[in-house]
Amino acid sequence: MDRERSINIAVIGAGNIATRHLENLAFLGGNRIVAICDLDENLARAKAATYGAQAYTDWEKVFEEVKDLGAILICTPPVLRKPVIQAAIQHNVPFLCEKPPAQSLREAREIVALLQNTRLIHSVGFNQRYAPSVDRCMELLEGRQINLVDAAVITSPGLTRNLGADWFYLKEKGGSLFDNTIHTLDVIRYIAGDIDAVHAFGSNLTIPISDSFTIEDSMSINLQFSSGAIGCILLSWACAQRRDDLTFFGRDIRLSLSTIPPRIEGMVGAPDEKPKSITEQFPQGPAMGRSGEIHPNRRPQDPPDPPHFEEIEVFLNAIRNPSLSSAIRSDFADAARTTALLHAIEASIASGSVEKVPLIEGTP
Ligand SMILES: NC(=O)c1ccc[n+]([C@@H]2O[C@H](COP(=O)([O-])OP(=O)(O)OC[C@H]3O[C@@H](n4cnc5c(N)ncnc54)[C@H](O)[C@@H]3O)[C@@H](O)[C@H]2O)c1
Repeated sequence: MDRERSINIAVIGAGNIATRHLENLAFLGGNRIVAICDLDENLARAKAATYGAQAYTDWEKVFEEVKDLGAILICTPPVLRKPVIQAAIQHNVPFLCEKPPAQSLREAREIVALLQNTRLIHSVGFNQRYAPSVDRCMELLEGRQINLVDAAVITSPGLTRNLGADWFYLKEKGGSLFDNTIHTLDVIRYIAGDIDAVHAFGSNLTIPISDSFTIEDSMSINLQFSSGAIGCILLSWACAQRRDDLTFFGRDIRLSLSTIPPRIEGMVGAPDEKPKSITEQFPQGPAMGRSGEIHPNRRPQDPPDPPHFEEIEVFLNAIRNPSLSSAIRSDFADAARTTALLHAIEASIASGSVEKVPLIEGTP
């Protein structure tokens, strides 16, 4: 297997996340961006000119026309997932699919079934799993029972509407739960294990439901883990004062995790011991801004947008050498289980009852 082989890469969707991947790929070097596709022809042309690729507005043509396509990055909003993945399977092209991995639970199940008997290398964009702080957090929690998980993801895009596209604010197209909170829930699953049941409430005290805002502006969610642990999460898309934290508690440990920038902070020690404080920062530079600007504090030796960089590097290494595919931290089947958790949360808000997290057939 040629570890240096250049891979021809196509990118479908040329917005925010595509720009992050493209900048990371330029930093990584050694591959070719051969096609960039967006419904917005001007955007596709501009990005294609920047990265030396061919511009497309129809993703199906990318599969038809590009020779020796080695990987495809699906960077569109969640409305476009299954048809591209189907084509990738048909043409045997490894794919990296952005989160959320599907626009409905049904679609997630269908894609899991499509992939089940293939060995196609693929990855889902839960990049936060690759943050060095996640590795360190898991190392410190190794051998300890996690009893409680507590998180708050409080941000303001519902107030500022500064994210551009409408789908961030519309439940039927994704909404805040499926856009940003999905990362926190996925990292919680990755570290603390599967969640069996949820009970959630939603409210719209700050931003009333309207045609352009069909999601809850805030949520409170209780989690019951398969391990017996319990957790609670507060979410808001409607508070000008930000709070973003995630903490794991065990008998003798409290550990707070940040993935971007990577950092952990906490205390460890049994009740009869003098507790030891833990504070660790990691050298990775800050992430890129939404409009594609690279953070001014980034060190030149750091990739433009960690931990998306680590995610894409692992994906490309697995294409060159499939024996490295176990380093991919989120395959579709696992990502579908995070999706199922989000659907259980939505179901609980609608029913007012505790909801079991639906099983995804064909996953462990
Ligand atoms: N992993 C992460 O940290 C992360 C970060 C940001 C966004 N995302 C995800 O990436 C996806 C895209 O988000 P974004 O912020 O880049 O959105 P965006 O609106 O900036 O860009 C999406 C682009 O896709 C294009 N598009 C839509 N339908 C298309 C189609 N059928 N064919 C070709 N192009 C099409 C749009 O014209 C737009 O330019 C979302 O699912 C989002 O949740 C992931």
